[in-house]
Amino acid sequence: MLLLPVTLLALQATLCHAACVEVDSDTEAVANEGFRLGCISCKMRGEVPAIAVVNWFFKGSEDKDFNPLYTYENKQGEVLDPRFYERLDWSGSKHTLDLQDGSIYILNVTFNDTGTYRCTFERKLLYSNYEFEVNTTRVIHLNVVPKLTRGMASILSEVMMYVSIIGLQFWLVVEMIYCYRKISAAGEEALRESEAEYLAIASESKDNCAGVQEAE
Ligand SMILES: *[C@@H]1O[C@H](CO)[C@@H](O)[C@H](O)[C@H]1NC(C)=O
Ligand SMILES: *[C@@H]1O[C@H](CO)[C@@H](O)[C@H](O)[C@H]1NC(C)=O
Ligand SMILES: *[C@@H]1O[C@H](CO)[C@@H](O)[C@H](O)[C@H]1NC(C)=O
Repeated sequence: MLLLPVTLLALQATLCHAACVEVDSDTEAVANEGFRLGCISCKMRGEVPAIAVVNWFFKGSEDKDFNPLYTYENKQGEVLDPRFYERLDWSGSKHTLDLQDGSIYILNVTFNDTGTYRCTFERKLLYSNYEFEVNTTRVIHLNVVPKLTRGMASILSEVMMYVSIIGLQFWLVVEMIYCYRKISAAGEEALRESEAEYLAIASESKDNCAGVQEAE
């Protein structure tokens, strides 16, 4: 009976260890904030040991071609593009040569960082008597937005909320006054009508009475 949880635990541990999910990177960065450029390439054969080198390339909106941006090999990263000196950090797999997460982190995004990023994995699968090379490439189109967009949108929606609340209440008051006038006018009319009706009934019943008296 004790064996079942133990095997489950072991199974879970191996599953957790092998779990690699290729999530797409976010594509909208906020200026003057940090941003993680995600790049994940899972090994097809999780059980086969491998070593990988990750290279990043960048093509800004003004550039004609991709320029080398960053390289990560032997647990060491190097920024290759002067525009990104002191602004890039490795954010991928750590303490291993078998990289599956090749993400990098931009410390302080500027509008000039808008553009296309390409990330490549050069992976060597190390089988017992031969090596197999696989390359994978991911492309990310990054858009940089000012910090205020969200704030401005929420301010605008708040103003719209107040405008609509005040507008609705004003409309309600106008409607109430209109209805009140209409009801009171209708009330007077009804009063006059019922008075006339009362008199009519009264005179009718008088006639009836007269009729009855005549019949007698
Ligand atoms: C990011 O860069 C801007 C402009 O270059 C600067 O004003 C700001 O202080 C920097 N922020 C950080 C956190 O380094
Ligand atoms: C962005 O690029 C323009 C033109 O290349 C340059 O003049 C400007 O200083 C750059 N801005 C930043 C924050 O790097
Ligand atoms: C992977 O990329 C490297 C460097 O660009 C190249 O030398 C190698 O031939 C490529 N391998 C495959 C299998 O495409």
